[in-house]
Amino acid sequence: MTSDDGQPTSAVSDIARKMREDWDRRAHVDAKYWVAATAEADDESYQESAVKDAAALLEGLGDAVGPEARVLDLGCGIGRLAAELSGRFAEVVGVDVSPQMIAVARRMHAQKPDVRFEANSGVDLAGFADGEFGLVFSYSVLPHIPPDVLEGYFLEVGRVLREGGLFRFQFWIGEPHAAAAADTLSIRTYSRAEVDRMAADGGLDIVSTETIDYFDPVLKMHPVWVNARRVRPPARSVTPPAPREATTHISAEQELEYGLLLYLAVKHGERGEIEDAERVIEQALRLDPSRPEAYVQWATWRIEADDLKGAVTLITEMNTRVPDSTHGWLYRAQFCEAAGDLRTAERALDKLAALQPDDPELVEQAAAIRKRLRPL
Ligand SMILES: C[S@@+](CC[C@H](N)C(=O)[O-])C[C@H]1O[C@@H](n2cnc3c(N)ncnc32)[C@H](O)[C@@H]1O
Repeated sequence: MTSDDGQPTSAVSDIARKMREDWDRRAHVDAKYWVAATAEADDESYQESAVKDAAALLEGLGDAVGPEARVLDLGCGIGRLAAELSGRFAEVVGVDVSPQMIAVARRMHAQKPDVRFEANSGVDLAGFADGEFGLVFSYSVLPHIPPDVLEGYFLEVGRVLREGGLFRFQFWIGEPHAAAAADTLSIRTYSRAEVDRMAADGGLDIVSTETIDYFDPVLKMHPVWVNARRVRPPARSVTPPAPREATTHISAEQELEYGLLLYLAVKHGERGEIEDAERVIEQALRLDPSRPEAYVQWATWRIEADDLKGAVTLITEMNTRVPDSTHGWLYRAQFCEAAGDLRTAERALDKLAALQPDDPELVEQAAAIRKRLRPL
């Protein structure tokens, strides 16, 4: 088996590697945004989300877990929730497949000695002893994880929980909704029977669920908190996930990530944070250079900054990468006309005409430029 760049791959570790690389990449762009995904995409809403989600986490626990318990946050990200639990339990340990997330978590919460962070393999909880935790919790992690990895985590959570300990996790239960096997971003939903089965394999009994106050317009459902109690040893030990193709291009995952990056960039742009906006839009462009949106958005910011040359460079790249975009050729003609490069403007109009556009407004705009270039 070889990867896209022709390198031989170890299939067993592919998914662990892909999870690590994908989440490291996201963390490098903006870790707070990628863990909290707030509509405002700013620091303030990140902190609000931490307080709100941690309160919901604790409220559902009631007095089921005492202050003497050691707690594990599975997929802790940058410690958004783990840090909020400081002072409440003997120790809180956050684990995450992304070393980049863990590095940020350590920096952000260095002053909290009862909260520590460790990178893990992404497929097991090796390094933690049987029965060492009274509570394992996980928020906005398990629905993104490939199903075979998820099954392994139920076994591992059952192993590291003490008898009677609690696993409290956020999940989507309803009409099953799958994703490509190596997709690390799309949300998967499971039937209640399937969750019961996976939990039971881990030696866990689901004792209750609580609806979370958020409605997803795409999935058309609310997520839930699931509370599962550790009632017996897991049915078996975790095994490495099954080998699979080293898929690096998954269109649904890429489309979602691209859309979320674009959203973040636009939010920065609206707040006038142009440096951040351009840094993020560059990531979207790198992720998928064959889509037009990032070029157009970025060129717009360049125009607003009076950098016509920069805008022309971007649209020229867009014309190469997205040659079928009629708007791309129209922008090229407009920008080149404004820059005084009339020959290139005219060639762009020829390219546009060859695509036989049927958008009357675009045709009209092109005709107006042509008339200005050749008035007679
Ligand atoms: C949407 S973020 C949520 C982070 C955190 N739970 C929170 O609520 O702030 C998902 C996190 O899960 C981590 N993650 C994804 N797959 C994982 C895996 N297989 N094992 C451990 N962590 C994983 C990612 O690196 C990322 O930090």
